[in-house]
Amino acid sequence: MPKAELHLHIEGTLEPEMMMALAKRNDVALPYDSVDSVRAAYRFGSLQDFLDLYYIGMSVLLKRQDFFDLAFAYLERVAAQNVTHAEIFFDPQGHTERGVSFDTVLSGLTDALDKARREFGMTSRLIMCFLRHLPEEQAFDTLAQACRCKEHIFAIGLDSSEKGHPPSKFVRVFAEAARQGFVAVAHAGEEGPPAYVRDALDLLGVRRIDHGNRAMEDPALVARIVREKIPLTVCPLSNQALKACPDLTVHPLKRMLAAGMVVTVNSDDPSYFGGYLNANFVAIQEALGLNRAEIATLGRNSFLASFLPDADKAAALARFDAFQGKW
Ligand code: HPA
Ligand code: ZN
Repeated sequence: MPKAELHLHIEGTLEPEMMMALAKRNDVALPYDSVDSVRAAYRFGSLQDFLDLYYIGMSVLLKRQDFFDLAFAYLERVAAQNVTHAEIFFDPQGHTERGVSFDTVLSGLTDALDKARREFGMTSRLIMCFLRHLPEEQAFDTLAQACRCKEHIFAIGLDSSEKGHPPSKFVRVFAEAARQGFVAVAHAGEEGPPAYVRDALDLLGVRRIDHGNRAMEDPALVARIVREKIPLTVCPLSNQALKACPDLTVHPLKRMLAAGMVVTVNSDDPSYFGGYLNANFVAIQEALGLNRAEIATLGRNSFLASFLPDADKAAALARFDAFQGKW
């Protein structure tokens, strides 16, 4: 099925093999001495458990070539899964904090996106995330860097530790980003309460909610999300790995679809959570017994909820409908 991926952290595609190889190439010390010991650490009780490992992992990324290698490996892999468009998060503060320049990160990533467009016809957008555990002031510094490279960065997002770092902490920087022409999204309702989802909409002006699972606890909020057609980028294997839901058989995705929400399936940090986009579709289909119509809705939603320009979106939807007609 042709599809778009809308919730994918490029640093979360760092496979243990590449982590070890880059550590060697760049002479970076890791607390792991083998691929197996990295994999053995992939047992998470919460979002924070994962983030601790995620920030250690990205410490091997130092040079433009490293960011290129990371991103191109992801793009090549999902092109083979018929992902025709990808909207990709990156966390510049995870790198600039370590002394890697913003331009090193961005140039390596855009090199890979350009090559994927040439070689696979894959389109993409970059979404720059602010790390919400850091002060808003540092997000402003990061936004200033992005303003020098607007042609490469379409949207801004908000990720990292959700609890204790509500959307209200970032109102000013999101307002300035909007003035600068960036579209906004935010992680909300992954671990945080439904109020964080509402605040992301009302205070940050986001066009999509990343995750949004806990919105299901608030019927009025669900009704609003349906009415306003706010897409949710849901990540089943991530939710299972981070214990956001006890088991995929009780995952809210089917209820979200039934409620009429514009939900999409995504992989979040596939190297850490046990599978790329197709694996997420297979796992959630099996766990919830999704039927063909539900799967097709998820695929169609991925283009509908994308930030493709209108004409390109219409073309992608027409191609999707033609595929579905033959399916
Ligand atoms: N949630 C919050 N922050 C993140 C995630 C996530 O799933 N992945 C990478 N940073
Ligand atoms: Zn995420």
